[in-house]
Amino acid sequence: MEKKLILSIESSCDETSAAVIENGRIVLSNIIATQIDTHKKFGGVVPEVASRMHIEVIDKVVKEALDEANVTLEDIDAIGVTYGPGLVGALLVGLQYAKGLAYAANKPLIGVNHIEGHICANFIQHKDLKPPFVSLVVSGGHTFIVHVKDYGKYEVLGQTRDDAAGEAYDKVARALGLGYPGGPKIDKLAKEGNPNAIEFPRARFHEETLDFSFSGLKSAVLNYLNKCSMQNIEVNKADVAASFQKAVVEVLRDNVFLTIKNKELDNIAIAGGVAANSALRDALISEGEKVGVQILFPELKLCTDNAAMIGSAAYFRFINSKSSSLDLNAKPNLKLNEG
Ligand code: KG4
Ligand code: ZN
Repeated sequence: MEKKLILSIESSCDETSAAVIENGRIVLSNIIATQIDTHKKFGGVVPEVASRMHIEVIDKVVKEALDEANVTLEDIDAIGVTYGPGLVGALLVGLQYAKGLAYAANKPLIGVNHIEGHICANFIQHKDLKPPFVSLVVSGGHTFIVHVKDYGKYEVLGQTRDDAAGEAYDKVARALGLGYPGGPKIDKLAKEGNPNAIEFPRARFHEETLDFSFSGLKSAVLNYLNKCSMQNIEVNKADVAASFQKAVVEVLRDNVFLTIKNKELDNIAIAGGVAANSALRDALISEGEKVGVQILFPELKLCTDNAAMIGSAAYFRFINSKSSSLDLNAKPNLKLNEG
């Protein structure tokens, strides 16, 4: 197979990242400059601050990615970049930078959907993984069950109707005073708590659906905390974290295994920041063992936002001749399969 190198750029939220990827699966470099420490002070991502910080570091991050991969722009076959979904100001920084490079170096530009990038992190981690398979994408902004029919061909089978799973983690963590980002903090604290201590609700829909809803669960946790504070009852934070987490994990597990049953597929690839969650991993692996389904996860660095996953998605677009024009614009609400 002819060697193709993609330089990829990701700046949709609070990570500025650039990577060099060989043939969609091999990471030659994956540089990530995170802004988490800055946003922590505000309890969440401040969009204007995020954009400014991307501007400050993007040039350095891209140069570092090329240096670490030991290549120059000349060696690159195409430039991949996230153009949505995400924060518009943040997306524009990466996109404008990528367009400038593509124009100056006369290389094809490949616009990539961020969600597609998360799914493709699994192609890097699992070198033999090929479609079709089911992917559960769980991040700070998104919760999707996707049937990956082929490279670049997706059918969304279920999605959240309100909060994303990671968003629920972040909001509950904030209410518990654990800080941002909340997912890893709840994950850690839940290990010391009793998951059966408090019975939080799981959303049920009247119709048959693979959709999710997490806002009712989040409100139930907030109400529980308010009630305890009004009645001067001491809250066991670890129990709240463990019980909340159990409710999230069960709903994700049940819907994804229902999909597998309906579609008769035997691979589930988990993606997105919440894929780093240890309880979710354990629950899916143990259910998978029961029914003979293989559960695949990317390593932690490839779960949360990074440019390597964008480079993988860009490669599969590139070899299918799907390049973008230089007037590509940022799309904060870009849908999977759009464009
Ligand atoms: O994919 P990602 O880096 O950014 C988005 O595209 O949204 O995901 C970030 C989300 C945050 O909500 C964070 O709290 C959550 O992933 N997260 C976790 C864990 N690590 C990160 N949630 C639960 N458990 C974790 N270990
Ligand atoms: Zn993401």
